[in-house]
Amino acid sequence: MKIDILSAVPQLMDSFFNHSILKRAQEKKLVELRVHNIRDYTNYKHGQIDDYQFGGGAGLVLMIEPIVNAIESLQKENTYDEIIFLTPDGALFNQQAANQLSLKKNLLLICGHYKGIDQRIRDHFVTQEISIGEYVLSGGELGAAIITDAVCRLLPGVLNDETSALFDSFQDGLLAPPVYTRPEEFRGWKVPEVLLSGNHAKIESWRHEMSLKRTEERHSNKKGE
Ligand code: ADE
Repeated sequence: MKIDILSAVPQLMDSFFNHSILKRAQEKKLVELRVHNIRDYTNYKHGQIDDYQFGGGAGLVLMIEPIVNAIESLQKENTYDEIIFLTPDGALFNQQAANQLSLKKNLLLICGHYKGIDQRIRDHFVTQEISIGEYVLSGGELGAAIITDAVCRLLPGVLNDETSALFDSFQDGLLAPPVYTRPEEFRGWKVPEVLLSGNHAKIESWRHEMSLKRTEERHSNKKGE
């Protein structure tokens, strides 16, 4: 899979993409992540990429030309299955959306900044608009990083134990059960005995019960979905 990201502040994603699971996924050539600076595609003086909005109002808007230059230049090398704009008024991102995106080959993510991007980019190029939560961030970069992480960990071979993503919270509509590791007892707080019993059927049944309980308590609307 290939994920290209357009941003006015590409450095924001450097550290995130160059550590841990995303780093290994790229080293194993399971995913190619490329972050492009919108400023590299502007023909305006002094690298300008934003301007005041027509009609007045506070805040700068990312201009159409640099972004279209970037999209069309990248489209010469890739055919994108989706061109996604990160925006607080997009569809809320969830596990199901991550699953669907993980089946695609090439994605292009566009990060807004300042007051947003010229609406004509959304009208004529963007195929999906995604929000990562009901709050306003300073830009789409954190959203792009979140989508990239959620999608990449689903790609075959990215996680060491390939099955483990299948048991993530939300994959079956249920939240994950609690997990424990050594020591068996800390300050008198004990690991549930069933987990030490070696009886796999009993352990599975306990985990399922805990998943149901957590889902009921924290996400009652998700139970049995
Ligand atoms: N850009 C600003 N806020 C955002 C949000 N909540 N989700 C995605 N992109 C954003």
